Amino acid sequence: MDEALLNELGQRLDAIPDPAGAGGLVANGRIVGLTEKRGRIDCVVEAPAEGAAAFSALVPAIKAALEAAPGVKEARVVLTAAARTRPPKRARLSEAATEQTRRAAPVPAARPEHVRAVLAVASGKGGVGKSTVAVNLACAFARLGLRAGLLDADVYGPSIPLMLGLTEAPEHRDGKLIPLEAWGVKALSVGLLVDADQALIWRGPMASQALTQMLTQGAWGTADEPLDVLVVDLPPGTGDVQLTLVQKTPIDGAVIVSTPQEAALADARRAHALFQKTGTPVWGLVENMSGEIFGRGGTRAEAERLGAAFLGEVSLDASLRQGGDSGRPVVADQPDGEAAKAFMEMAKALAGKLR
Ligand SMILES: Nc1ncnc2c1ncn2[C@@H]1O[C@H](COP(=O)(O)OP(=O)(O)OP(=O)(O)O)[C@@H](O)[C@H]1O
Ligand SMILES: [Mg+2]
Repeated sequence: MDEALLNELGQRLDAIPDPAGAGGLVANGRIVGLTEKRGRIDCVVEAPAEGAAAFSALVPAIKAALEAAPGVKEARVVLTAAARTRPPKRARLSEAATEQTRRAAPVPAARPEHVRAVLAVASGKGGVGKSTVAVNLACAFARLGLRAGLLDADVYGPSIPLMLGLTEAPEHRDGKLIPLEAWGVKALSVGLLVDADQALIWRGPMASQALTQMLTQGAWGTADEPLDVLVVDLPPGTGDVQLTLVQKTPIDGAVIVSTPQEAALADARRAHALFQKTGTPVWGLVENMSGEIFGRGGTRAEAERLGAAFLGEVSLDASLRQGGDSGRPVVADQPDGEAAKAFMEMAKALAGKLR
């Protein structure tokens, strides 16, 4: 967004008094997201945990203030409630135990409407092919006749738009964000909501808000035609960002992607531990880039050690990289190839887990 518009909108928002204290909405840090795309404004307002009602009443005024700014065609205001920062006092718990309780029992994640199951694809290590697996699994579910969606939660490097060949910004309708469609899969990505140069400011709390918005306000399905499975491409790593994301997302099951090398396997173990800590079922491990260079079979052995299912292996194969770069996932574009067959087998095994 250009600076003049940002200033204009900032002033308008700050002229609205914070219902929960002295000062304007901007000064009090209530605006946690503000983006513009072709005259459409997305504004995320965070209300304190107590007092959301007063903020709710304010939404039309915020929308009107934004829409009155020159050059603005439409504004959408999303209200989110801040998590309570402190857990209820428990006198007998030590500080460390209290912290652990807080982490283990987060604010319940809001379930997306009309979505039967959320399947997260994760990896401890970056670059192991997590997005490739997420995209092809989603396409494989679609080929099995399931209603499949794909949410790109990788705020560090959203790659789903490129891999599915999507460039358009999603439309808003009736307060919902309409997912784009490619290869029979409904998709939303942080990469579609922001310009590349704006992506930076979305990392951190705003990124997490954007995700919640795409998850809970995406028009993924309807009462008559609910989505059977929403595949979520998580960012790589097992740090605090990932932990928060996992806790804030209502994940029914996780798939961990690894390459056969020991370094990647060690990170896969960490990802497995993260899911155990948050009580998320791990539905299985996938070995990607199996073959001569990296070896083969390490992930299957690791799955056995962890007591997790092994879902299959995908060989190192140039068609996968070409498919990803050109927005033509191999499962949809080269369905008779070895890689497509491997993904179809994984999807069949996972379909049994979906509710
Ligand atoms: N089996 C494979 N054979 C050949 N190339 C592959 C294979 N799997 C993935 N790739 C390529 O490797 C690169 C990294 O894959 P991808 O983006 O899916 O990994 P990622 O784990 O999502 O990475 P990041 O951590 O950056 O999100 C991409 O260029 C992709 O096309
Ligand atoms: Mg990725």
